[in-house]
Parts: sequence; C-alpha cells; structure tokens
Amino acid sequence: MEDNKKIIASCILETLDENVDINDIYNKIEVPKDKKNGDFSYPCFNLAKILKNSPVNIANKIKEKIVLNDAISKVEVVNGFLNFYLNSNNVVENILKNILTKNSEYGKMNIGNGKNIVFDYSSPNIAKPFHLGHFRNTVIGHALYNIYKELGYNTIGINYIGDWGRQFGLLIEGYKLFKDEYDFSNNVLEVLSDIYVRISALAKEDENVMNKARENFKELENGNEEYYKLWKFFREVSLKEYDRIYDILGVKFDSYNGEAFYNDKMDVVIDTLTKKNVLKESRGAKVVEVGDNMPPCIVLKSNGSTIYATRDLAAIIYRAKTYDFEKAIYVTGSEQILHFKQVFEVAKYLVEEKYQKGLVHVPYGLVRLKTGRMSSREGTVIYIKDLINDAINKSKEILINKNKEVEDIELLSKQIGVGALVFNYLKSNKLKDILFDLDETLRFDGETGPYIQYTYVRTKSILEKSGYVESDFENIKLDLLTNSEEIELVKKLGEFENIIKRAAQDFEPSIIAKYLIDISSLFSKFYNNIKVLETNNEDLKKARVALVYSTGIVIKNGLNILGIETPSKM
Ligand code: ARG
Repeated sequence: MEDNKKIIASCILETLDENVDINDIYNKIEVPKDKKNGDFSYPCFNLAKILKNSPVNIANKIKEKIVLNDAISKVEVVNGFLNFYLNSNNVVENILKNILTKNSEYGKMNIGNGKNIVFDYSSPNIAKPFHLGHFRNTVIGHALYNIYKELGYNTIGINYIGDWGRQFGLLIEGYKLFKDEYDFSNNVLEVLSDIYVRISALAKEDENVMNKARENFKELENGNEEYYKLWKFFREVSLKEYDRIYDILGVKFDSYNGEAFYNDKMDVVIDTLTKKNVLKESRGAKVVEVGDNMPPCIVLKSNGSTIYATRDLAAIIYRAKTYDFEKAIYVTGSEQILHFKQVFEVAKYLVEEKYQKGLVHVPYGLVRLKTGRMSSREGTVIYIKDLINDAINKSKEILINKNKEVEDIELLSKQIGVGALVFNYLKSNKLKDILFDLDETLRFDGETGPYIQYTYVRTKSILEKSGYVESDFENIKLDLLTNSEEIELVKKLGEFENIIKRAAQDFEPSIIAKYLIDISSLFSKFYNNIKVLETNNEDLKKARVALVYSTGIVIKNGLNILGIETPSKM
C-alpha cells in the first residue's frame, strides 16, 4: 500500500513545473473510506496555496498531464480531489507481496520517527484487589501503547499507581486495630482489602476514626518511620499481586512512578501557580479558575494538604521534562473526564504550550455484570484473579469436551481464556458500557477472541496440509486470484496499515478488533466457496495458499497489537 502511495505521489509531482517536496504530496494522500472514491485520494488544497490557483483547476490540470503507471487504472477529479483507482490485478499482487515480504513487520510504519509518547494506564489504587474496571483500563492502555509503537513512536508505559492519599491513613488505622485477626502469610491483598472495607465502614460511623486516619496520613507525609514501613509493606504486597496479573496478560511497564513519587515534587506546582497569580482562595481552599464551563480546580484543600489533582499536575511537569513527550495519554474511566479537563487547563500555567497541547484523556465506559455496577465501593466486586482463572478453566473444559488432542492443554487454555477476555474488552467502542458474560466471551464462533484465534489456526493447518513452505511463495502467480471472494479478502488485508492509523487517531483499539472480525468472516466466506487445496492447477493452488498464509500473518500481527496470543493449534 505504501508503495502505491509513493507511485501516486511521484506521478503527481511529474506533472508540476513548480518545485514541490514529494513528501508534501505523499503525506496528504488519503485512503477514502468509501471505495467509490477510489483506492487513494489526493486533496489538491495544499497545492492550491503553493500554486495560487483553485483546487479544482489544479486537480483538472494534473489529471490532464498525469502519466499513469500500470499499477493505476484510472484517475478522476471530484471537487478538488484526485481519486486514484488501482489496477485490480496489481492490487492483489502489491498487497500480497507486501505482506509476504514484511511478514511479522507488516503493519509497522515509521510515522512517529521515534518520538516519545507517554501512556498512563492501568494505575490501580493499591491495597485493593484489581477489579474489572482496571482490567479494562489495562487492556485498552496496553493496546494503545502497541498501536503507537506500530506507528514508529517510542512508547513509554507508566503505571501511575494510586499509592498515596488519605486511604493510607485509613488502612494504617485498620491495620492497627485488626491485624491480629488475620493471617498475613497468604492472599495478603485480600486481607488488606478486607481491612480497608471494615475500617472505611467504621470511619463513616465514627468521626474519631476518620480523624485518626487523617492524622495518620499527615504523619506519613511528614515521614513517620513506622507508618512509612507499613506503607511500603502495603505497596509491595499489592504490586507483587498485580505483577502476577500483568504477567499473565503479557503487560509490562517502563515505570511504576505512582502518586507517592510526586509527594516531594508538588512545591513547584504551588510556587508557579502563586507566582503567576492564578491561585485563588475559595472557601478556605486554594483553587485555579478554569473557565466558566467548569468548577475551579482545587489544588490545596482547606487544611493545606495536596490532592489527586496536585499530584497529576506535578506529574505533567515531571513527564514533560523527563520524556519530552509528543503526547501524554491518560486512560481512565469516564467518571474522571472533568478531573482531566481541569488539570489539563491548569497545566497551561506549568509547562510549555507544546506539552500542554499534547495531553490527551482517553475515557472508557463502565463494565457491568448482570447484577449491577462493578466497583470496589459497592459489594459486587469480581476479582480479576478469579475471573482469569474462571476463563482459563472454562476454556480447558471446552477443549476437553471437544475432544481436542493438544500437546499442552495448560498453555492452550490460558491462551484462549485470557485472549477471550482481552478481546471481549477491546471489541466494543471504548466509551460504551459493557455487560460482561463469560460464556458469551468464550464462544468459539461469533465475534469472540477464540473465533479469531481459531481462524488463525485454520490458516496454519491449511498451509501445513498444502505442503508449501514460506520460501515457495517467492515465486507465485498472484494474478490468478480473480474470484470476488479472493479479491475482497486481499483488499481487506491491504487496509491493515490504514486501520492501525485510524485506531491510533481515535485512540480506539476496537477498530482493530472489528477489522479482525471482518477478516475472519471474509476468510470463512473465501474458504467455504473456494476449494483451496482441490485444484490441479499447481500455480493457482499456490497463489491461494499464499493468500491463506497472508491472512494468517495479518491476524497474528493484529492480535499481537491487541495483546492477544495466537495458539498454533486449537
Ligand atoms: N488511580 C486512579 C484510579 O484508580 C487512576 C489514575 C489515572 N492516572 C492519573 N494520572 N490520574 O481511579
């Protein structure tokens, strides 16, 4: 696909007398959403400025003069756009050759030029078990991290864990009161969580307990050694438990600098805002006005202590300095939309404009079980650990019931179970609330992870049966692929790069998930209608197997970006 863009750009350039940089043309070439408008389209608007003529005139002139290469069948002018149609034989050939040559690199681009993008995701509040909401956060963040990496950015994953704040004063109080009732040798995180729930309930009833919690936290902030040790203990056991989940998911972070890391980095926030005279007194608190449409952003509470927003502001300064980021992306539930709007507004007083403009909040919707909202505040908590185990066990059951002979059933049921969960979370539009249903998620047919994985496995087994190996595809007659099922599938495979770009632009991994569903159903249609292995024409067979193999490559690369493994048998 990229090669065709180059061809088109140079064909256009050759029609121009003026000195225009080929990249200025190349970068503007688009892939129209509707194929009626061609395979590629070039808007003549930027040339209009350079050539001081109307886009329509320029488009017509170019069309008159252009000499088409045999990869392109025709060009049309529509409202200042030049629409290019590829020669369909060439389309098939170009796309498949491109996939076969690039193989696992197919989909990788160099748009980002190695520039830094920071991703703040997962970020659970520690001392509480990981629940469904954070799981959604983790898989969306991880997919976005991979998507931008695919575009050629240097991506930095930050797990901004919630390891600071008054809840630690509470937890310390709870620990003091209840520790003798528990066994800390096992499931420590669940123990801590239990303590937290109990002490929170107590503090709600008894103002004294709440005051003690406040004092505890103040002392922790001031460096009380005993409390600091406790805090470290809470943090360590929590992280150890989370890491087990991240390991299963294959998620890694480049930094675990969470809220506590910014405890000693907030003075500069207050100083700068004070110096710029934007810190105002409001009912005892210190706030910054952020426009008429939003309440002001509180930076210091009336008792002088810092809050969530203050730490986020300190983190923006730190990240701008440390990573010189092009973008800083924050993945959280949509209940934090206002928080980030306020914080990003205040950031304009603290960092250079280019950094402030690069701040992006990516909110996502709720995860519901059939029985109401999923939250650590309201009883119905489902721990991710249990959910993952359930998914793996159920996959194993399904495999056993299907009488599948597999080499390593533990590995396979893990790949299927975890893949199913991740895919389920990524396939719907991120802002949509999702209703979680494990059985639905694990189905081997329908729009599920196992279905996509299974399609991949089918491509592998067809390849195996055919007896061809990769090197056989160096010499193939791809122009033999002329059936509509074949051409449709190939064209879809050719959209991969564009799909990744759209997913990046909209911060929407579901675009890739949906694309993989499309590929899988086009593949089924192709494979049901065309007897790939049953032709005597060896060249045709080879070309078709090459298409099967290419489909496998695209599915594998796509799943990989979403953070899902591809089993080799299933
Ligand atoms: N710990 C927060 C929560 O669980 C999410 C943190 C998001 N990141 C940030 N920089 N504020 O709600």
